[in-house]
Parts: sequence; C-alpha cells; structure tokens
Amino acid sequence: MIIPVAHRADQTQEYYFSVKLAEVRTLLAAGHDVINIGIGNPDLMPSDSTIDALMASARQPSAHGYQPYKGTPGLRQAIARFYQHTYGVTLNADTELLPLIGSKEGITHLSLTFLNEGDGVLVPELGYPAYRAVSHMLGANVLEYPLREYHGWQPDWSAMADLVAATPHTKIIWLNYPHMPTGAPATRELFEQAVRFAHDHRVLLCHDNPYSLILNKKPPISLLSVDGAREVAVELNSLSKSHNMAGWRIGWLAGAKPYIDAVLTIKSNVDSGQFKPLMDAATEALGNSDDWHRERNAVYQGRLDAVHALLDALGCTYSPDQEGLFIWARLPDSVASAEDLVNELLYQKHVFIAPGFIFGPKGERYIRISLCVPKERIQEATQRIQA
Ligand SMILES: Cc1ncc(COP(=O)(O)O)c(C=O)c1O
Repeated sequence: MIIPVAHRADQTQEYYFSVKLAEVRTLLAAGHDVINIGIGNPDLMPSDSTIDALMASARQPSAHGYQPYKGTPGLRQAIARFYQHTYGVTLNADTELLPLIGSKEGITHLSLTFLNEGDGVLVPELGYPAYRAVSHMLGANVLEYPLREYHGWQPDWSAMADLVAATPHTKIIWLNYPHMPTGAPATRELFEQAVRFAHDHRVLLCHDNPYSLILNKKPPISLLSVDGAREVAVELNSLSKSHNMAGWRIGWLAGAKPYIDAVLTIKSNVDSGQFKPLMDAATEALGNSDDWHRERNAVYQGRLDAVHALLDALGCTYSPDQEGLFIWARLPDSVASAEDLVNELLYQKHVFIAPGFIFGPKGERYIRISLCVPKERIQEATQRIQA
C-alpha cells in the first residue's frame, strides 16, 4: 500500500473472529462440514409478529427515507415499556433513550463522547474485546481491572480503587453482568457497589447488558434500577441475543438526558439513523411475550446439557451456574495451549470453538462455547472429538 494508514489502524489488530471466520468459510467452501460453536450468533428465529411487522412496514411508501437521528418515537416508547416490564425501570422515551445500530457501536460513541487522549478507562481483564480496542484507538489509557476468579468473577473493587488513584483523569468503567465470557450472573449487590464506586471516584459507569434474559436464574436486573445510578451510569442493551436479531443491528443506550444528548451530538455526525421497517419490527419484537422468552430459554437449556457433555469429553471444568449465551470452561492441565487445541479441533475435527485468550490474557487456560447451534450438532461435535 502506497498510502500509510493512521497510527490507530496500524496499532489495531483485526477482530479475532473476523480472521477466524474467514478460515471457517474457506473450510466450508472446500466442502468440510464445520460445526461452529465459537460465535454467539443466534440461529433461532425472531418472533413471527416481528417478521410480519418488517414486511408490512417495508411495503409503506413512507418507509424508505431518512429517519430521525433518535429513532422513531414508537421504537423509543417500546424500549421504555420493555424496561418497565422487564426491569421495573421507568425511562422517559423522549429524553432517556437513544436507539443504536447494535450496542457495539454504542461502545465507540460513548468512548468518543467521554474520552480525551490519555484519559484512563477501566476495562475488565476478561471481557468483550471492543471496550479495549476502541479505547486504544482513541489513545486512552487502558487499565485492566482484575476479576476475582474464585469469587464468581466479580470485580476486585480495591484493586480498581488503586488503579483510579494512580491514574489522573479516569473517566469510564466498563461493566458487563451477566458477564461475557465467564457467564457470571448479575447481582443487585454488585450493581450497588458499582454505583457507589462510580460516585466515589467520579467516573462514568458504562454497563453493557445484552445477556440479562438468556438463561437467567433470577429476574433480570438493569443497573439503572439501583438508587443513584442515573447520575453516574448509562446502560447499553440490544435485541441481538434476547430477541434472536443479531443481524438486524438494533440496540440502544439508556440513561439520563445529559448523557444521551452528549452521545447524540457525536452519533448524529456519524450515521443517519436506521431503516424504518427494522425499527417498526423491533418495536413489535420488544412486545414478545414472557412465554416467547421462556421457550427460547428452554431450547438453550437443552443445548447447555449437550455442551456440558462436550466439555466433559475435553476434560474441561466449568461452573454449572452460568448465564448468557456461552459456557466458559477451564482446560485440563494436559492441554499445553488453547490456540493449538482450537486449531486442532478446527482443522482435524471441523469443530470451531473460541479460545479464552481473545477476551484477555487471563483467559489463556480457558475456552468459550456458544449455545447457538442445535443440540444434535453439539452432540455430533462431541462424537467427533471422542472419535
Ligand atoms: C458483551 C457484549 N457486548 C456487546 C455485544 C455487541 O452486541 P450487538 O449485537 O448489540 O452490537 C456483544 C456481542 O457479542 C457482547 O457479547
């Protein structure tokens, strides 16, 4: 390439899955039947009424133009009703919600809105890679906070306090419970502690909440339900996993008006809203019944048992109490390297699983398996591994 890229492009690595899934596609193109239990891409359908709403809206002549930067009022009202019903949280649909093109872009917009070069950002030492990657792109100072493995992967608050004390201008903490990749559940005590910490240290708590409805054992919680959260916290959420709509790219940011307004200032300069039929269908999806969610979880529960059998075949250890769309498992000592194991399984057994190190160095001795393939395929993967 004759034209040099900017430093940020030079220093950023392509997303692991972007590279690895190209390898999976090459194997598929060569006729290999790859079982992909690496990625969290729901294979189940959105509700029928969601699809009907999409098609009906797409037939309207008025549906094809630019839409409001803050999404349709109908979508925002549906998100507000969903928050009330699901988490008991009251949100003002006009001022406290901002629809997003998936919650992933919200990570970038929040970072662009609040981080100056050199500002500190606390990210979990194991977590969704985008928190770290975007912070690096903006020249922020990434501080990895420890998770206490033997205490349910909860943040180590005293280590976090030390990090903040040692870093001038720490601005953001990324938090995500139910936690990806470890499956650690959210608890009210954890959220209360997080809000106290954000107040004490004057940092913006950015909670990422896409898994609260997947295999949750207790009623789902929003961080915004905690007293005092609105002054210091915002929450990202999404239809990708909870409504089987990952490819639709529908998410949102919830929080107090000043935070929403600040993010909109940035976002409105980046994109021009979403396709109205997607928003109309998302409006419909947000009204999916509690039974619809229960049925989805019943399918995942069946797959979970199959994943446990697969992990037993690999000699892994894992917590049976995980929530969300993945199972996090520790490799046996006999396995020298997770990367070698992943490549061996991919190229010899045509089974793709995710190595734990892509979520942070602490994940080196772990793998992550997704529940996004039918139970029979997980069982087939187990048979291939055992063969
Ligand atoms: C923890 C976490 N946050 C955010 C996202 C992004 O989700 P979305 O599809 O809403 O952009 C994912 C996707 O896998 C995730 O695991």
